[in-house]
Amino acid sequence: MNILLVGGGGREHALAWKLAQSPSLTTLYAAPGNPGIAQHARTVPLDIDDHAAVGAFCRAHAVSLVVIGPEAPLVAGLADALRRDGVAVFGPSAAAARLEGSKGFAKDLCQRSGIPTARYVRTASLEEARRAVLAFQAPFVLKADGLAAGKGVVIAETLAEAELALADLFAGPGGAEVVIEEYLHGEEVSVFALTDGTRILPFGSAQDHKRVGDGDTGPNTGGMGAYAPAPVLTPELCERVYSQIIAPTVDTLRADGNPYVGALYAGVMLTASGPRLIEYNCRFGDPECQVLMMLYRGDLAALLLRCAQGELDDAPAPDAHFASRSALTVVVAAKGYPGQPRLGGRVELGGAEDGGAVVFQAGTRREGDHLVASGGRVLAVTATGDTLPEARDAAYRAVERIGFADGFWRRDIGWRELRRAALRSR
Ligand code: AMP
Ligand code: GLY
Repeated sequence: MNILLVGGGGREHALAWKLAQSPSLTTLYAAPGNPGIAQHARTVPLDIDDHAAVGAFCRAHAVSLVVIGPEAPLVAGLADALRRDGVAVFGPSAAAARLEGSKGFAKDLCQRSGIPTARYVRTASLEEARRAVLAFQAPFVLKADGLAAGKGVVIAETLAEAELALADLFAGPGGAEVVIEEYLHGEEVSVFALTDGTRILPFGSAQDHKRVGDGDTGPNTGGMGAYAPAPVLTPELCERVYSQIIAPTVDTLRADGNPYVGALYAGVMLTASGPRLIEYNCRFGDPECQVLMMLYRGDLAALLLRCAQGELDDAPAPDAHFASRSALTVVVAAKGYPGQPRLGGRVELGGAEDGGAVVFQAGTRREGDHLVASGGRVLAVTATGDTLPEARDAAYRAVERIGFADGFWRRDIGWRELRRAALRSR
């Protein structure tokens, strides 16, 4: 079958790398793709916002499955337009993608369905927000309702800071809608599921590193590194996440007439009173997808097609399709990220992949015969090992072989789990 992959970041490079290994794949197209994706796919300069043009491309090239990587085209309704054209799509409709596109929608759905999450207030009025915040305790969690590429969340330490942040959130010309919520204490874990709208296939767990600096310091980013699986999510906790959070979400959306088809990513806080949902994303995580793809052993193209066609198998044992190894990825970013990254710096991959690591390209562009940085997160250097420490060592050995004078990376990816492993082995 021919597949069109939409997107051009590290997540999509990992999907392209895995799809290219599928026995059921004939030709992989990618729009817009990137130089890394171009090693596995024919990249095509399609305007993703032009849904009719994407549909016409699919007809002209006998594409039988479209895999949509990023959230923006999903929230914009690309999957709906293609389905109307009769193309199978892995990725939710605009209505179902509101789980990520509107934090208020996701919170209301949780409340309706009894899904454990942080207590919250949703409002479009600054006055009401100012009053509502008084009912919470520091730290105060304030969220802009819509898509904000990870930048719509403020955690304010004091009431004064919270009031300033609220004024800021409402300062725009069109006003705003915000969610104010209770701060959850605990360890964060990313849990993935594939669903065809009815059946749910558990699809692994991972832990991300959102802060830019070592020791989880500095501003939030899209993610500076990740590893899978996340042993902190014990089988018992994992079962609770699926039964108390993911299954009721999928059931509610279907009952509402908006079945969710695609990858569902739950950001979960493991609190003293059990797992609680922090947020939903309507896609794979980036860079969590990179580690999941390194461990997935099946025919990805066939699996995503079954999902898109409403034919997922009845739940196999959780994670049955993953190698029982560990994978770890280190994001190499351009200096300045997550502020203004320094773009255009030359990137030499050298022998980074010689030891079995895979360098997924996130923000690169070809200039003559070499690669240059074209985004904040530039590479995701990913390796596996029998144990997490082995995966970590292999990934960092590969990072050291890369030439990128304008780059930086965290040196402590995996620290929580590595510390636990060290304590256990004492
Ligand atoms: P979000 O965009 O909703 O994932 O929020 C970004 C990050 O802010 C999350 O990954 C958490 O680390 C943190 N965060 C969001 N909501 C909460 C909350 N209610 N309690 C504690 N931390 C939170
Ligand atoms: N790594 C976090 C995300 O993809 O949202």
